[in-house]
Amino acid sequence: MPDQPHLLIDRLPKCELHIHIEGSLEPELMFALAQRNKVKLPFASVEEVRKAYQFSQLQDFLDIYYQGMSVLITEQDFFDLAWAYLERARADNVRYVEMFFDPQGHTSRGVAFATVVGGLHRACQEAAARLGIRASLIMCFLRHLSEAEAEATLDQAQAHRSRIIGVGLDSSEKGHPPSKFRTVYRRAREMGLHLVAHAGEEGPPEYVWEALDVLGVERVDHGNRSLEDDSLVARLARERMPLTVCPLSNLKLCVVRDLRRHPLRRMMDKGLTVTVNSDDPAYFGGYVGDNYRAVQQALGLGRDELIAVARNGFLAAFMPEDERKKALTEFDAAVAALGR
Ligand code: ADE
Ligand code: ZN
Repeated sequence: MPDQPHLLIDRLPKCELHIHIEGSLEPELMFALAQRNKVKLPFASVEEVRKAYQFSQLQDFLDIYYQGMSVLITEQDFFDLAWAYLERARADNVRYVEMFFDPQGHTSRGVAFATVVGGLHRACQEAAARLGIRASLIMCFLRHLSEAEAEATLDQAQAHRSRIIGVGLDSSEKGHPPSKFRTVYRRAREMGLHLVAHAGEEGPPEYVWEALDVLGVERVDHGNRSLEDDSLVARLARERMPLTVCPLSNLKLCVVRDLRRHPLRRMMDKGLTVTVNSDDPAYFGGYVGDNYRAVQQALGLGRDELIAVARNGFLAAFMPEDERKKALTEFDAAVAALGR
């Protein structure tokens, strides 16, 4: 075994299951696309953009995140965005990605749904061929908008059904409970789409219950506040419900005050299936490898814990069972090759 945890982290095959592709837009690419598309940005330089990334809660980030996406206009822009992320993922030894995207953040600006999906899907296809990464798309509904608007978005997705594996729920959590989206999730399930939702990031444990019981999600995104409710924790453990945890996001959005107080280790101790992810890496200061390193250092995670977290990604991924079996065999072989 590499005696440095960082070497082990580098070498572990990984999944990323919670990445908003628009949140991987680095300021350099933001400026390049603004120039290409003649979009005016309210920032004079890359440094000024980075300086603006100081958040005290989720909404502070969302305001700047929606503004940042305004530079994404053409199919090529969406390809370039996703490709830049996928190259970084490859450098972190990520083998499998499920990428969130926010269609309503684009269609509301007059960008066609087909343009968004076209560019992202092409990047996913090329990633398989050129980077050895299997990548797919999960479309998120913006929860601060109405359920009728989510339904109209699902209608638009029908024509692209084969390019989307699931639906999610993101944006401002407080005041927008999962139950607001009961009908559109029922319809998505009938279409055979996988179901996930952000819950318990800022919102209360009740929102996690609703995500499970009203929406029928197969994974919970974040889920931090589940720890406030013992019976919820017991349920999540019993059902092996995966949580897609995002440590650097939690720190940047003040969900935790200090990474040393991050709930990831407590979640593991309670038998929860936790995975580590980056959320919005361009805004929160790190990609998935950075998240592993940060949380390893802050919580003193050991070899077996790091391996378990990385392996959980393959257990939680929406891949066919034969593919999962193969991925887990490859994962175990890669770990065995590292030695002790
Ligand atoms: N959209 C992008 N990142 C998000 C997050 N962390 N929570 C809710 N909505 C988001
Ligand atoms: Zn998220």
